[in-house]
Amino acid sequence: MDKKKMEDTALRVIGDMGGAFSMALGYIGDRLGLFKAMSGAGKLSSIALADKTGLNERYVREWANAMVAAEYIEYEEESHEFFMTDEQSAVLADEDSPMFVGGAFHFTVPSILNTKKIMQIFKDGGGIPYSDIGDEIPEAIERLFRPGYVNFLTRDWLASVPGLINRLENSAKVVDVGCGCGQSSIAMAEAFPNTKVLGIDYNPPSIKRANDLAKAKGLKNVEFLEAPAHEIPNNENYDLVCSFDCIHDMVDPRLTLKAIRGAMSDDGFYVWSEPNVHENPLKRRDPVGKAFSALSPLHCMTVSLAYGGEGLGTVIGETAIMKLAREAEFSSIEKLSIEHPLNQFFALKP
Ligand SMILES: C[S@@+](CC[C@H](N)C(=O)[O-])C[C@H]1O[C@@H](n2cnc3c(N)ncnc32)[C@H](O)[C@@H]1O
Repeated sequence: MDKKKMEDTALRVIGDMGGAFSMALGYIGDRLGLFKAMSGAGKLSSIALADKTGLNERYVREWANAMVAAEYIEYEEESHEFFMTDEQSAVLADEDSPMFVGGAFHFTVPSILNTKKIMQIFKDGGGIPYSDIGDEIPEAIERLFRPGYVNFLTRDWLASVPGLINRLENSAKVVDVGCGCGQSSIAMAEAFPNTKVLGIDYNPPSIKRANDLAKAKGLKNVEFLEAPAHEIPNNENYDLVCSFDCIHDMVDPRLTLKAIRGAMSDDGFYVWSEPNVHENPLKRRDPVGKAFSALSPLHCMTVSLAYGGEGLGTVIGETAIMKLAREAEFSSIEKLSIEHPLNQFFALKP
């Protein structure tokens, strides 16, 4: 036995223990407004931070000390005050920042609460339907992926498909399949006022959030439909079909891909994103690979297997994506040269 290798493995587990507990405290900081209260506020004592948030000082102090240890916030020894750098604020408090990760706390903690149910499913098979996966999860997923949609979707990702932006600027029809709470659909509707966007999702609370947001923004060129993804109104000849981070969750991804191809105009585009994770587990030994691999049985695979689905899992992988596209008889599929830590992107033609 190699003692050093043993030590390394044990330390890795202890490090992950710190990570898991920090996620729980990060969730508290995110949901109780502690990060936002600290952002831009300069140095604060635990008493000042407790006052500002209306929370118990002893708990706030313990939270802040733990967040310093986790390197999420800073501490000044002489004054015993806590503060956030601009960079920490952008990551932990600014919902519009491209690197905002509050959604990671929001998604992780309720997902881990399903662990006992998942243990039983390991024995019995089946899964947890999306409707039972946790009340907070649709909004958590919305916050996890929103930074990409508001910062990059229309300016970078869609712009990397030749000819697409021109089409969207000149009154196109778009359908956003598995749109969740509608952030991607709304980003497209806002950027391209001449284009009509339809978002489809089978989860009622998500569609309600999407409708509420579109109404609050006064958008007239976006609508949402509560329906299974394969029931795309198919007489529209869509110029663009999108599916962001959702085909791998589906019970019958092949049926959806067939419906997508059928809904496209002859010269239409399909832009498809999936988690940016390598299919070889040895090549997933990085923060994103590790997070998405562990998430799969706790969320993506289980919501599909709940209905006897295909259970592709979070780590669908490029080879499986290419194979599914060929089986659905798309005439071409190209991986787009978009660098994004969470997602890989493909452009397909019918
Ligand atoms: C991981 S979320 C992604 C949501 C959204 N596209 C985003 O990027 O924020 C997956 C979404 O797929 C939806 N979904 C899964 N299977 C579906 C199906 N068969 N029909 C419609 N929506 C489905 C879920 O309701 C959920 O909103």
